[in-house]
Amino acid sequence: MKVITEGTVKILLPSLPESVSSDMPVFYNPKMRINRDFTVLMVRYLAKVLGRGLRVADPLAGSGVRAIRIIKEAEGVDIACVNDRDSRAVENIKMNFKENDIEEDRYRVFQEDANIFLRREGKFDYIDIDPFGSPVGFIESAILSLKRGGVLGVTATDTAPLSGTYPDVCIRRYGSKPLKSEFYHEIGVRILIYKIFSQGAQFDFSLIPVFSYSYLHHFRVFLVKDKGAKLTNRNVRENTGYIVFCHACLYRACLRDRCSMLMCPLCGEMLDYAGPLWIGPISSKDVVDYFAKDIGYVNVSKETKKIFNLIKEESKVNVPFFYTLSSLAKVLKKNKVPSLDRVLKEVEGVRTHFSGEGFRTRMDYKELREKFSVL
Ligand SMILES: C[S@@+](CC[C@H](N)C(=O)[O-])C[C@H]1O[C@@H](n2cnc3c(N)ncnc32)[C@H](O)[C@@H]1O
Ligand SMILES: [Zn+2]
Repeated sequence: MKVITEGTVKILLPSLPESVSSDMPVFYNPKMRINRDFTVLMVRYLAKVLGRGLRVADPLAGSGVRAIRIIKEAEGVDIACVNDRDSRAVENIKMNFKENDIEEDRYRVFQEDANIFLRREGKFDYIDIDPFGSPVGFIESAILSLKRGGVLGVTATDTAPLSGTYPDVCIRRYGSKPLKSEFYHEIGVRILIYKIFSQGAQFDFSLIPVFSYSYLHHFRVFLVKDKGAKLTNRNVRENTGYIVFCHACLYRACLRDRCSMLMCPLCGEMLDYAGPLWIGPISSKDVVDYFAKDIGYVNVSKETKKIFNLIKEESKVNVPFFYTLSSLAKVLKKNKVPSLDRVLKEVEGVRTHFSGEGFRTRMDYKELREKFSVL
């Protein structure tokens, strides 16, 4: 057995292969620590907001590391229901709960298909969907098994289709067209949110994103569940739509109806588009403010803190796309690329966690081009 530590927990694994893959006897990816760090923060936030002992579900648990961290690091959890369809994972989960001295009445372990587990054992205050590849096959069960006011955490590692490398796959899986642009990862996150939102909306549920990001090869979104046909109609109207984009001059705009603008108003070229997708905020101020206060009390990695600080900064400017220095310099034929700090000052912008050379601004694109040209 190999022993690893993460946060405050110790995990035993049958082996640690040289490269992480779904062929591992029990799956564990150390690079996903940031994903689990944010999960702990989110469950702590939820326990505080709901003010009751939480019932949480980890339907695709692998080694159980996530559920064990939740129990140990997120105060306010009564019980974790932990599931994996693989018998080796289930044995490993049981061993790891014992190894971490978790009281037996605080967890239950299941070996089922995740959808059957969720529908039979629901309702939960928090559900974590962390599959290999796309989460689409588990979303409906998760939404139906989540309590009103509960949070759903979803990971997607099929970032290539969502980001526009395989548009047909994205349209088939997510019902939405991706777009190759400098903000393609953000488009992918917004398509993922749209998929989850629209699967809830068919049952009059509103799943609203409260914390979202992209990191290495995964997208991660957390959504709060509310209920009501009128509320959901309003969210459809106000928070879903399209982003149109001009490949020639980099003009972009956010539209409810993409047919309302077909040609670029700046250069006259035909516009491309992404959508339908979520065009509202992807993180909530309450959650970001809470994480900012709480992160010092949780054993998170340096990388988690770094990404969080960027998300905190960028959440101040609610615009559904960003610009990059290199693409603006290229389209404006500027030989010398100005520094990001200088640009941020000139355009009242903020950095983005999606790209090291990216920035978000509320400034109109025409004005931004004029300012950028003379920097
Ligand atoms: C990406 S791993 C989970 C990693 C884990 N959540 C973590 O944080 O380390 C996905 C797990 O889901 C399990 N799995 C895949 N399809 C499943 C299904 N339909 N039902 C239940 N478990 C499934 C696999 O055996 C694997 O252990
Ligand atoms: Zn144009």
